[in-house]
Amino acid sequence: MTLLPGLSFAVISGLIGLSASTELRRADYTATCQEIAAAVSSASKVYYGGSPQYTEDNEHWASSSSQISACSFEPANAQDVGIALQLLAKDQTPFAVKSGGHSANPGFSSTPGVQIALFSFSEVVYDPNAQTATIGMGLIWDDVYSELEQYGVIIVGAKTTGVGIGGIVLGGGYSYLSNQYGLSVDNVVSFELVMPNGTVASITSSSNPDLFYGVRGGFNNFGIVTTVTMKTYAQSQVWGGLISYTADQWDAVNTAIANFVSTVTDPKACVYSTTDYASGVVAILTILFYDAPTYPDGIFNELLAIPHSAEDISTRSYLSLIQTLPANASSGLRAMFHWVPIEQFTSSMLQMVKNQTLVYGEQLSQSSGVLISYDLVPLLPSLYNHSDTPSAFPSLRDSGQGYSFIEVYYGWTDANDDEVMLQVGAESAAYMKQFAVDAGQDVANALIYPNCAPPGTALADIYGDAVSSLHSIRSAVDPGNVMGLTGGWRF
Ligand SMILES: Cc1cc2nc3c(=O)[nH]c(=O)nc-3n(C[C@H](O)[C@H](O)[C@H](O)COP(=O)(O)OP(=O)(O)OC[C@H]3O[C@@H](n4cnc5c(N)ncnc54)[C@H](O)[C@@H]3O)c2cc1C
Ligand SMILES: *[C@@H]1O[C@H](CO)[C@@H](O)[C@H](O)[C@H]1NC(C)=O
Ligand SMILES: *[C@@H]1O[C@H](CO)[C@@H](O)[C@H](O)[C@H]1NC(C)=O
Ligand SMILES: *[C@@H]1O[C@H](CO)[C@@H](O)[C@H](O)[C@H]1NC(C)=O
Ligand SMILES: *[C@@H]1O[C@H](CO)[C@@H](O)[C@H](O)[C@H]1NC(C)=O
Repeated sequence: MTLLPGLSFAVISGLIGLSASTELRRADYTATCQEIAAAVSSASKVYYGGSPQYTEDNEHWASSSSQISACSFEPANAQDVGIALQLLAKDQTPFAVKSGGHSANPGFSSTPGVQIALFSFSEVVYDPNAQTATIGMGLIWDDVYSELEQYGVIIVGAKTTGVGIGGIVLGGGYSYLSNQYGLSVDNVVSFELVMPNGTVASITSSSNPDLFYGVRGGFNNFGIVTTVTMKTYAQSQVWGGLISYTADQWDAVNTAIANFVSTVTDPKACVYSTTDYASGVVAILTILFYDAPTYPDGIFNELLAIPHSAEDISTRSYLSLIQTLPANASSGLRAMFHWVPIEQFTSSMLQMVKNQTLVYGEQLSQSSGVLISYDLVPLLPSLYNHSDTPSAFPSLRDSGQGYSFIEVYYGWTDANDDEVMLQVGAESAAYMKQFAVDAGQDVANALIYPNCAPPGTALADIYGDAVSSLHSIRSAVDPGNVMGLTGGWRF
């Protein structure tokens, strides 16, 4: 993994450049900023370029996801979110809603208009009787795991450091705990939702079944969520961490992973392996996880026995484990993700992924590709069977088939390469999916994870048959299409 220093926001701003017409529109948007500042309570703040809060509010993990907004708005309560939505609707001013800012799709949580950053929603409230925790949308998962540690409980969230609550809880949420408890969306008990008309409501499966279904997978289509209440589970220390291999051990690692997935069905055990091609050098960074202080039956012995370049494995807190993968090191690059569903990682499939990594790693290093990464995430087929009620993603509960997946991540520096990176990522993903289909795996119609679907993905490829009902639910709660002023997957 290349340790590239994060590009500063000033550098990114310079790279984007501003035209005269952008400046004009920005002046209009500034009027909305001023109206919001005048209408909300004194606890909520509007910031302009030059202030550190403005910079933080506009910043993203991927530099290609940031834009220069007219101002940023940090609401302190749900009522003020509602007031802002009403003013944005009146002025038809574009806006963005940002939680952790890890979306890699431009415009999904950035805007030239009003950038809403949810940092003030930062509480974690544990309810031991209900066995739930209510968490603010301005947090990252690290904060939540850290806060819940004192109670010996956990909730199902991101498996990597730095990721926001919002995109995960509104879009899916693959965790080390998903084989046991499902996705994050499966663990939601209620949301506080500010509807597009500004009304604040508590959304549960009984109060608003349609919205409860849609919001879990449908992101910002139905309004702005301020807090979420999720199921908690008892959590002991876990075993695992990061083990790193060099390219000469690639085949041995692939064999060990194929052996692992074909023999281990214990839902407490996970392997998550990322392979990074950077400047001609390949690093295999593999996370081993077991949801107990020790692992049984030698299940990880083969992976541990392969000669490795570094090892950071121990019995540790859940938080410590999710921080072992250096995901922050690649922040500040331009970025795209793609996602390929897989039934089973066979040896031949892992060799195919190795070839993709080498072919495209070399090809994209000719342009400004810095980090060409193919990640393997094996999961159990029962993955999607842990929910009491269906959600917008994954919507195909009835088929009862959970998928493992290959995640494609490209990081690069030059905006002129955006198009080629997206094009090559799509080409590689299509090749890998076809390989799986040709190998007899039933993935031809499997839906793509909305959090890893690149810009321009057809809605039907993400939400399948659910698109029309999601459209109806969206129209009912937002007849004026206020949320159409922000970016994302739009129903
Ligand atoms: C380094 C890295 C690690 C990752 N690890 C994981 C992982 O372990 N598991 C996994 O499932 N995915 C993972 N992802 C993908 C991740 O799910 C998405 O990037 C996700 O969208 C990030 O959420 P966020 O809140 O940080 O992003 P943001 O960019 O802030 O938000 C994403 C989208 O959700 C909307 N949104 C956010 N909050 C709200 C809200 N409160 N109300 C309404 N709309 C809202 C935004 O408008 C935006 O469209 C990872 C991504 C990266 C870059
Ligand atoms: C990653 O960055 C976030 C800030 O975005 C920080 O809170 C977190 O602690 C960092 N993780 C590690 C492991 O340093
Ligand atoms: C390697 O991948 C490339 C690009 O998808 C493909 O054209 C080629 O046939 C693959 N080679 C092997 C040996 O599979
Ligand atoms: C998941 O549940 C569905 C519907 O109840 C069932 O048909 C399917 O067999 C289950 N799948 C697994 C892998 O348990
Ligand atoms: C706002 O929209 C919701 C959902 O459609 C509706 O129940 C509520 O009455 C509306 N509030 C106002 C003030 O119109």
